[in-house]
Amino acid sequence: MSTHDIEPVAAIVVAAGSGSRLGADVPKALVAIGGVPLVVLAADALLTGGASRVVVVAPAAQRDDFLRLFAGRDEVRVVVGGAQRQDSVRQGLEAIGDARFVLVHDAARPFVPARVVRRVVEALAAGARSVVPVVPVVDSVRAITDFGSAVIDRSTLRAVQTPQGFDAELLRRAHAHVAEQGLAVTDDASACEALGEATVLVEGSRESLKITEPFDLVVAESLAAARQTDSGPAGDGRADA
Ligand code: CTP
Ligand code: MG
Repeated sequence: MSTHDIEPVAAIVVAAGSGSRLGADVPKALVAIGGVPLVVLAADALLTGGASRVVVVAPAAQRDDFLRLFAGRDEVRVVVGGAQRQDSVRQGLEAIGDARFVLVHDAARPFVPARVVRRVVEALAAGARSVVPVVPVVDSVRAITDFGSAVIDRSTLRAVQTPQGFDAELLRRAHAHVAEQGLAVTDDASACEALGEATVLVEGSRESLKITEPFDLVVAESLAAARQTDSGPAGDGRADA
Protein backbone atom coordinates (compact mmCIF):
# COMPACT_ATOMS: atom_id res chain seq x y z
CA MET A 1 0.00 0.00 0.00
CA SER A 2 1.30 3.46 -0.78
CA THR A 3 0.99 6.12 1.90
CA HIS A 4 -0.63 8.29 -0.80
CA ASP A 5 -3.71 6.03 -0.69
CA ILE A 6 -4.21 6.82 2.98
CA GLU A 7 -6.11 9.77 4.34
CA PRO A 8 -4.09 12.77 5.51
CA VAL A 9 -1.81 12.17 8.47
CA ALA A 10 -0.98 15.00 10.86
CA ALA A 11 2.28 14.99 12.79
CA ILE A 12 3.38 16.64 16.01
CA VAL A 13 7.09 17.30 16.57
CA VAL A 14 7.67 17.94 20.25
CA ALA A 15 10.58 20.36 20.51
CA ALA A 16 9.81 22.36 23.67
CA GLY A 17 12.43 20.76 25.92
CA SER A 18 15.52 22.62 27.09
CA GLY A 19 18.05 19.88 26.39
CA SER A 20 19.62 20.07 29.83
CA ARG A 21 21.70 16.91 29.30
CA LEU A 22 23.05 18.26 26.02
CA GLY A 23 24.04 21.51 27.70
CA ALA A 24 24.07 23.68 24.54
CA ASP A 25 23.46 27.42 24.81
CA VAL A 26 20.18 27.08 22.89
CA PRO A 27 17.29 24.59 23.36
CA LYS A 28 18.22 21.19 21.90
CA ALA A 29 15.83 21.41 18.94
CA LEU A 30 17.66 24.52 17.66
CA VAL A 31 21.08 22.85 17.70
CA ALA A 32 22.22 22.38 14.10
CA ILE A 33 23.61 19.20 12.57
CA GLY A 34 25.26 19.66 9.19
CA GLY A 35 24.03 23.26 9.39
CA VAL A 36 20.33 22.34 9.81
CA PRO A 37 18.49 22.63 13.18
CA LEU A 38 17.26 19.33 14.63
CA VAL A 39 13.64 20.50 14.56
CA VAL A 40 13.82 21.20 10.82
CA LEU A 41 15.42 17.81 10.10
CA ALA A 42 12.74 16.09 12.18
CA ALA A 43 9.80 17.92 10.57
CA ASP A 44 11.15 17.23 7.08
CA ALA A 45 11.68 13.54 7.90
CA LEU A 46 7.99 13.22 8.83
CA LEU A 47 6.81 15.04 5.70
CA THR A 48 9.02 12.83 3.53
CA GLY A 49 7.66 9.73 5.26
CA GLY A 50 4.00 10.56 4.60
CA ALA A 51 2.76 13.22 7.02
CA SER A 52 0.77 15.88 5.21
CA ARG A 53 1.23 18.59 7.81
CA VAL A 54 3.30 19.14 10.94
CA VAL A 55 2.65 20.97 14.20
CA VAL A 56 5.96 21.93 15.83
CA VAL A 57 5.76 22.46 19.60
CA ALA A 58 8.32 25.09 20.63
CA PRO A 59 9.62 26.48 23.94
CA ALA A 60 7.75 29.71 24.80
CA ALA A 61 10.91 31.80 24.92
CA GLN A 62 12.02 30.69 21.44
CA ARG A 63 8.66 30.86 19.67
CA ASP A 64 9.81 33.64 17.33
CA ASP A 65 12.98 31.74 16.38
CA PHE A 66 10.88 28.72 15.48
CA LEU A 67 8.41 30.85 13.49
CA ARG A 68 11.34 32.26 11.51
CA LEU A 69 12.71 28.77 10.81
CA PHE A 70 9.42 27.68 9.22
CA ALA A 71 8.37 31.01 7.69
CA GLY A 72 6.56 30.57 4.39
CA ARG A 73 5.93 26.86 4.93
CA ASP A 74 2.14 26.43 4.97
CA GLU A 75 2.38 22.75 5.91
CA VAL A 76 4.09 23.61 9.23
CA ARG A 77 2.46 25.30 12.22
CA VAL A 78 4.28 26.39 15.39
CA VAL A 79 2.66 26.31 18.84
CA VAL A 80 4.09 26.70 22.34
CA GLY A 81 4.65 23.68 24.62
CA GLY A 82 4.41 22.99 28.34
CA ALA A 83 6.53 22.01 31.34
CA GLN A 84 6.59 18.26 30.66
CA ARG A 85 6.73 16.39 27.35
CA GLN A 86 3.15 15.19 27.82
CA ASP A 87 2.00 18.79 28.25
CA SER A 88 3.71 19.66 24.97
CA VAL A 89 1.98 16.75 23.20
CA ARG A 90 -1.36 18.01 24.52
CA GLN A 91 -0.64 21.48 23.12
CA GLY A 92 0.22 19.90 19.78
CA LEU A 93 -3.02 17.90 19.76
CA GLU A 94 -4.98 21.15 20.12
CA ALA A 95 -3.49 22.35 16.84
CA ILE A 96 -3.79 19.34 14.50
CA GLY A 97 -7.36 19.99 13.43
CA ASP A 98 -9.57 17.07 12.50
CA ALA A 99 -6.94 14.62 11.20
CA ARG A 100 -7.90 10.97 11.77
CA PHE A 101 -4.30 9.82 12.29
CA VAL A 102 -1.53 11.56 14.18
CA LEU A 103 2.18 10.85 14.53
CA VAL A 104 4.05 12.11 17.59
CA HIS A 105 7.78 12.52 17.11
CA ASP A 106 10.67 13.84 19.20
CA ALA A 107 12.74 16.59 17.59
CA ALA A 108 15.60 14.78 19.35
CA ARG A 109 15.37 12.03 16.67
CA PRO A 110 16.16 14.01 13.51
CA PHE A 111 17.36 11.07 11.41
CA VAL A 112 14.31 8.83 11.44
CA PRO A 113 14.31 7.18 8.01
CA ALA A 114 11.26 7.74 5.80
CA ARG A 115 10.67 4.00 5.66
CA VAL A 116 10.11 3.89 9.44
CA VAL A 117 7.57 6.73 9.24
CA ARG A 118 5.83 4.86 6.39
CA ARG A 119 5.70 1.65 8.43
CA VAL A 120 3.94 3.46 11.27
CA VAL A 121 1.45 5.09 8.87
CA GLU A 122 0.78 1.79 7.11
CA ALA A 123 0.08 0.03 10.42
CA LEU A 124 -2.50 2.76 11.22
CA ALA A 125 -4.08 2.38 7.78
CA ALA A 126 -4.27 -1.38 8.40
CA GLY A 127 -6.33 -0.78 11.55
CA ALA A 128 -3.82 -0.37 14.41
CA ARG A 129 -4.74 2.45 16.82
CA SER A 130 -1.47 2.83 18.73
CA VAL A 131 1.82 2.06 16.95
CA VAL A 132 5.40 2.15 18.25
CA PRO A 133 8.63 1.64 16.30
CA VAL A 134 11.15 -0.45 18.25
CA VAL A 135 14.65 -1.86 17.87
CA PRO A 136 16.33 -4.81 19.56
CA VAL A 137 18.61 -3.97 22.49
CA VAL A 138 22.24 -4.56 21.52
CA ASP A 139 23.88 -4.35 24.95
CA SER A 140 23.63 -7.04 27.57
CA VAL A 141 21.44 -5.66 30.32
CA ARG A 142 21.45 -6.10 34.11
CA ALA A 143 18.78 -5.04 36.56
CA ILE A 144 19.97 -3.71 39.90
CA THR A 145 18.35 -5.68 42.74
CA ASP A 146 18.41 -5.47 46.53
CA PHE A 147 21.09 -8.20 46.51
CA GLY A 148 23.32 -7.00 43.68
CA SER A 149 22.24 -7.39 40.07
CA ALA A 150 20.71 -9.90 37.70
CA VAL A 151 20.99 -10.43 33.95
CA ILE A 152 17.84 -9.71 31.97
CA ASP A 153 17.14 -11.79 28.87
CA ARG A 154 17.96 -9.26 26.15
CA SER A 155 16.00 -11.14 23.51
CA THR A 156 12.75 -10.09 25.21
CA LEU A 157 13.66 -6.38 25.26
CA ARG A 158 12.95 -3.69 22.69
CA ALA A 159 14.01 -0.04 22.79
CA VAL A 160 11.19 2.39 22.03
CA GLN A 161 11.48 5.08 19.35
CA THR A 162 9.31 7.72 17.69
CA PRO A 163 7.30 8.61 15.65
CA GLN A 164 4.56 6.77 17.46
CA GLY A 165 1.29 6.73 15.52
CA PHE A 166 -2.28 6.95 16.79
CA ASP A 167 -5.91 7.21 16.05
CA ALA A 168 -6.13 10.92 16.92
CA GLU A 169 -9.32 10.61 18.92
CA LEU A 170 -7.78 7.84 21.06
CA LEU A 171 -4.67 9.92 21.76
CA ARG A 172 -6.77 12.92 22.78
CA ARG A 173 -8.74 10.76 25.22
CA ALA A 174 -5.54 9.17 26.52
CA HIS A 175 -3.87 12.50 27.23
CA ALA A 176 -7.00 13.88 28.84
CA HIS A 177 -7.10 10.76 31.03
CA VAL A 178 -3.47 10.94 32.20
CA ALA A 179 -3.79 14.69 32.85
CA GLU A 180 -6.98 14.16 34.85
CA GLN A 181 -5.46 11.30 36.86
CA GLY A 182 -2.15 13.13 37.36
CA LEU A 183 -0.23 10.23 35.79
CA ALA A 184 3.29 10.79 34.42
CA VAL A 185 3.93 8.84 31.21
CA THR A 186 7.21 8.51 29.34
CA ASP A 187 5.61 8.15 25.94
CA ASP A 188 2.28 8.42 24.17
CA ALA A 189 1.64 4.72 23.70
CA SER A 190 1.86 4.36 27.50
CA ALA A 191 -0.85 7.01 27.81
CA CYS A 192 -3.05 4.90 25.50
CA GLU A 193 -2.24 1.76 27.49
CA ALA A 194 -3.53 3.55 30.59
CA LEU A 195 -6.89 3.41 28.77
CA GLY A 196 -6.45 -0.31 28.07
CA GLU A 197 -5.46 0.12 24.42
CA ALA A 198 -3.01 -2.44 22.96
CA THR A 199 0.23 -1.26 21.36
CA VAL A 200 1.29 -2.55 17.93
CA LEU A 201 5.06 -2.72 17.39
CA VAL A 202 6.76 -2.09 14.03
CA GLU A 203 10.43 -2.21 13.14
CA GLY A 204 12.32 1.00 13.92
CA SER A 205 15.89 1.79 12.92
CA ARG A 206 19.20 2.35 14.68
CA GLU A 207 19.66 5.37 12.40
CA SER A 208 16.88 7.05 14.33
CA LEU A 209 19.21 7.75 17.24
CA LYS A 210 18.07 10.04 20.03
CA ILE A 211 20.28 13.04 20.63
CA THR A 212 20.61 13.36 24.38
CA GLU A 213 24.24 14.04 25.37
CA PRO A 214 27.16 15.85 23.66
CA PHE A 215 28.60 12.53 22.45
CA ASP A 216 25.46 11.97 20.37
CA LEU A 217 26.22 15.13 18.37
CA VAL A 218 29.47 13.57 17.16
CA VAL A 219 27.59 10.53 15.85
CA ALA A 220 24.89 12.78 14.38
CA GLU A 221 27.41 14.94 12.49
CA SER A 222 28.94 11.88 10.88
CA LEU A 223 25.51 10.50 9.97
CA ALA A 224 24.64 13.84 8.35
CA ALA A 225 27.92 13.83 6.42
CA ALA A 226 27.31 10.25 5.28
CA ARG A 227 23.86 11.23 4.01
CA GLN A 228 25.36 14.13 2.06
CA THR A 229 27.75 11.84 0.22
CA ASP A 230 25.21 8.98 0.19
CA SER A 231 28.00 6.72 1.33
CA GLY A 232 26.77 6.01 4.81
CA PRO A 233 24.11 3.82 6.36
CA ALA A 234 21.34 6.32 5.67
CA GLY A 235 20.16 5.39 2.17
CA ASP A 236 16.55 4.26 1.97
CA GLY A 237 16.01 0.59 1.32
CA ARG A 238 19.07 -0.55 3.26
CA ALA A 239 18.62 -3.07 6.03
CA ASP A 240 17.57 -1.76 9.42
CA ALA A 241 19.68 -2.86 12.32
N1 CTP B 1 9.95 17.95 25.08
C1 CTP B 1 8.92 18.88 24.94
N2 CTP B 1 8.44 19.54 26.04
C2 CTP B 1 8.98 19.32 27.25
C3 CTP B 1 10.04 18.39 27.42
C4 CTP B 1 10.50 17.71 26.30
O1 CTP B 1 8.44 19.09 23.82
N3 CTP B 1 8.51 20.01 28.28
C5 CTP B 1 10.48 17.28 23.89
C6 CTP B 1 11.95 17.59 23.65
O2 CTP B 1 12.08 18.83 22.99
C7 CTP B 1 12.42 16.39 22.85
C8 CTP B 1 11.47 15.29 23.30
O3 CTP B 1 10.42 15.89 24.05
O4 CTP B 1 12.31 16.58 21.46
C9 CTP B 1 12.18 14.22 24.11
O5 CTP B 1 12.70 14.80 25.29
P1 CTP B 1 14.23 14.81 25.73
O6 CTP B 1 15.07 14.11 24.72
O7 CTP B 1 14.28 14.44 27.16
O8 CTP B 1 14.58 16.37 25.53
P2 CTP B 1 14.78 17.47 26.65
O9 CTP B 1 13.75 17.31 27.71
O10 CTP B 1 14.85 18.78 25.94
O11 CTP B 1 16.23 17.10 27.20
P3 CTP B 1 16.69 16.95 28.73
O12 CTP B 1 15.79 15.88 29.33
O13 CTP B 1 18.12 16.53 28.64
O14 CTP B 1 16.50 18.29 29.37
MG1 MG C 1 13.67 15.52 28.93
